Amino acid sequence: MIPIKTPQEIELMTNSGRLVAQCFGEIEKVIKPGIKTRDIDRLVSEFIGDHRAVAAFKGYNGYPASICVSINEQVVHGIPGEREIRESDLVSIDIGVLKDDYHGDAARSYLMPPEDVEKRKLVDITEKALREGISAARLDNHLSDISFAIQNFVESYGYSVVRDLVGHGIGRKMHEEPQIPNFGKPGNGPILKEGMTLAIEPMVNIGTWRVETLDDKWTVVTKDRKLSAHFENTIVITKDGPIILTIDK
Ligand code: MF3
Ligand code: CO
Repeated sequence: MIPIKTPQEIELMTNSGRLVAQCFGEIEKVIKPGIKTRDIDRLVSEFIGDHRAVAAFKGYNGYPASICVSINEQVVHGIPGEREIRESDLVSIDIGVLKDDYHGDAARSYLMPPEDVEKRKLVDITEKALREGISAARLDNHLSDISFAIQNFVESYGYSVVRDLVGHGIGRKMHEEPQIPNFGKPGNGPILKEGMTLAIEPMVNIGTWRVETLDDKWTVVTKDRKLSAHFENTIVITKDGPIILTIDK
């Protein structure tokens, strides 16, 4: 069963989503070559705490940090630490918060100066792929219409979508039903209904879609060590179309 949220629950999720978006606003003030990934983790962790919320990833299945920072060939779940961000790095940051019993979850990829053309294209296509997926999250569409829209868009540029990791329903739990693959044929799966809250999150690779996990048991990297980017938003499905909750407005 996919949980349907009440208007009151949507209001709380709007607050959680806004806080996630504000975290990215804080990051954007400081992210540049030379900063340590741990410094970004600390900044976000403090910011979330200052807003009467908690970082949802911390302790999740034993995850040791507040956010995920994944660089270049790292796809997701990179653990912040002493590593310094360098010039031209592609930096993907994933943030989850729990506030007033409801979650918000989003990811953004940033490109450090001087910008590499290939990396810029990958980041832009991945962001647009998320938009395509969200556009398909309309009342009475099937769940897999989202998946198909993402895969179809990404592969038209010769890139690949990661298959081992998926988007998800979100609410009182960070991961609720349904799973939302970033690939698949259209017209399958449950029908989308008003009040469903979904975290849609394409992970896009320049080379193979295959990934593996490093010895730290968390960091997911591309099998061919080519570049990967990640964008995610939490949305709610309404009569008037999808509304992005992880936005600051
Ligand atoms: N944001 C991830 C997701 O969407 C969760 C990160 S895994 C964690 O599923 F362990 F770091 F929490
Ligand atoms: Co997520």
